[in-house]
Amino acid sequence: MVIRNIISIDDLSKEEIMEILCDAKKLDLMPEVKKSKFLNNKIVSTMFFEASTRTKLSFEAAAQKLGANILPFDSIGSSISKGESLLDTVRMLESYADILIIRHPNDGATRLATEYSSKPVINAGDGSNQHPSQTLLDLYTIKEEKKTLENLTIAFVGDLKYGRTVHSLTKAIAHFNPKKLYFISPELLRLPKDLLDELDNSKINYEILEDYRQCLSEIDVFYMTRIQKERFHDIEDYEKLKGVYVINKENIEYKVKEDMIIMHPLPRVDEISTDLDNTKHALYFKQAKNGIPIRQAMMLKVLNMEVR
Ligand code: CP
Repeated sequence: MVIRNIISIDDLSKEEIMEILCDAKKLDLMPEVKKSKFLNNKIVSTMFFEASTRTKLSFEAAAQKLGANILPFDSIGSSISKGESLLDTVRMLESYADILIIRHPNDGATRLATEYSSKPVINAGDGSNQHPSQTLLDLYTIKEEKKTLENLTIAFVGDLKYGRTVHSLTKAIAHFNPKKLYFISPELLRLPKDLLDELDNSKINYEILEDYRQCLSEIDVFYMTRIQKERFHDIEDYEKLKGVYVINKENIEYKVKEDMIIMHPLPRVDEISTDLDNTKHALYFKQAKNGIPIRQAMMLKVLNMEVR
């Protein structure tokens, strides 16, 4: 099946997810000179209406390594500042570029953009909704490290209410028969009910906790997230909850499985102490690096190009 846009992880079947992971692995192993021809004469526009380091720059690096030219869109220096709408902006950019990579602070904005673009759109994160490219690189990282995506115990910790990376990964991992999912957050930041309902419908084994120490020894993948100040409507709530979870070498050492991995979509603030960075558990920088082959595979997929 041809995939035109990747807006939600729900746009991909389990087979399509596996195909993208497999293409990413091929690209990871492919000589740079061979890769540099895939997107010759193509233009990739990165339209970011919200701050980003990893997603924006790794999409740009990934596209450049495939031979594409980048058309970066800067919302501050553009006619958005004169009042131009997102949708008129999309109409313009789709007439200049071959793929649009869009990040926007509003849930659903990237889905709306697909209705105004004849070119493929990839969601680079929309509000608290979805972040499919992060999820694919998360799955790639887990698979590389654990050699499987099946039967794992995964703990999601932190801001589960607004965390789009958690929302997307929860949906995706449900395809892979998880042993158990733990959702660990303060009450105010619990996973949305619609996602819990989906897990119930799929008969996924999960538990909601407030303290990760209750399940630490069982965990295969510890997926830590930042308490996101920018998503709170009431700053007092943020002030109460910031710093609620902090892991460091002392509070996890000898209490976790030898091969437990710690992941984080980044950026982090203080929730993972830097004293964990050089331990065997820390996977977050490798995870971010895996954004290159995954985002290459995604761009080739929406352009219906085979990786060989
Ligand atoms: N993980 C992630 O989306 O990082 P950025 O916000 O830096 O793109």
